[in-house]
Amino acid sequence: MNEYDSDRIKNALDAEPTDDPKKADIIIINTCAIREKADQKAFSSLGKFKSLKANNPDKIVGIAGCVAQLYGEKLLKRMPHIDFVLGPRAIPKLPDIISNIEREKRRTVETSYDIEELFEIEPYHKEGKVTGFVSVQQGCNKRCTYCIVPQVRGNEVNRPLKDILTETTNLVNKGVREITFIGQTVNSWKENGYKFGDLIRAAGEVENLERIRFTTSYPRDITKRMIDAMKDVPQVCHHLHLPVQSGSDKVLSMMKRTYTRQWYTDTISRLKDAVPDLSVSTDIIIGFPGETGQDFEETMSLMKEVEFESSYSFKFSPRPGTAAAEYSAEEMVDPQIASARLSELQAFQKDITEKKNLSRVGLIEKVLVEGESRNDPNFLSGRTDHNRILNFKGTKELVGKTVKVKVSEGLLNSLRGELVV
Ligand code: 5AD
Repeated sequence: MNEYDSDRIKNALDAEPTDDPKKADIIIINTCAIREKADQKAFSSLGKFKSLKANNPDKIVGIAGCVAQLYGEKLLKRMPHIDFVLGPRAIPKLPDIISNIEREKRRTVETSYDIEELFEIEPYHKEGKVTGFVSVQQGCNKRCTYCIVPQVRGNEVNRPLKDILTETTNLVNKGVREITFIGQTVNSWKENGYKFGDLIRAAGEVENLERIRFTTSYPRDITKRMIDAMKDVPQVCHHLHLPVQSGSDKVLSMMKRTYTRQWYTDTISRLKDAVPDLSVSTDIIIGFPGETGQDFEETMSLMKEVEFESSYSFKFSPRPGTAAAEYSAEEMVDPQIASARLSELQAFQKDITEKKNLSRVGLIEKVLVEGESRNDPNFLSGRTDHNRILNFKGTKELVGKTVKVKVSEGLLNSLRGELVV
């Protein structure tokens, strides 16, 4: 979501992006507030531009994204070298903000938004890129007790089907072959009686679009209509990111996740009945207030039962304004205990991921070639249908093509293979 917003910020200004702050006229730090660590990162990134701004007062420095939304006005006081604060929903207002600053030299905070213009700016598209994101929704209507998103991104607003398809088609016409629909709870998307399954079916009709992905799905919004569409539309990739957060019903209920562990595993079974080779990844929060050793064991037993392809796991981080930040100090899990639990879970996941990668050796995978491998220009890199990175020897002409690759090695974070001709 942040990557998408950064690309929209790049496009909002009619300017050439540069990676060199010294050359830039405008420096914008896009930020994430999901956990405290991300939030601190925003401040340390901004701090780096203090002396640059002091020596070049004409440069405009701004903070965008969820940290900007969260602290608003306070940021101007705390950071005298920044010129503007821009919330994630206010990106379409950026051009006006910049011209106002240039004209009036007045520092600005913009954290409001108008529904009509929410999706107005399309993201910057780098020529030759074969994958792209399309936002289908902003904000979130769920109220998970740990989560700051509804506060900083607002309630769910769904983008009209017509606009989603137009942006998708435009990208395909520029050479994009794989689209990832994005939304906080992407599969709760709806518009005028259309549901998420209908969106997938409509995207399946877009000519020359080879692959459809979407993220992030909310478990309770997985419906028969969605599962049927995943089964019927051949462009849909067989990978689903489905955050479970915990394997303990007690913790799930304290998180207000609105499902039980049984309901979650039953849902995975229903999905796999329809799409037998579906690969599933997840997010886990460790050390939610009140999480006991028993609760953690239940999370571990879920990990063993489901064997996720991969998982992102985080220590609980109390976020301002959320219900879970209100627990007393005694109810918080001891940080050392939480760290030990996190390490145990991550070590387990590492073995499973490696085992799953190894199980692909000898198989032929279809890969959409995205570009040269970062580590070795003799190698090309792409993703399998199941979202694994697969590197293989080949030349640049294959970028953008879907090729067959025989897997020869399964590593921890990727696969290696040979082109099948
Ligand atoms: N503390 C820790 N992890 C969090 N996440 C969201 N909020 C918090 C928090 N307060 C995690 C969830 C979510 C992912 C994007 O970030 O696992 O799925």
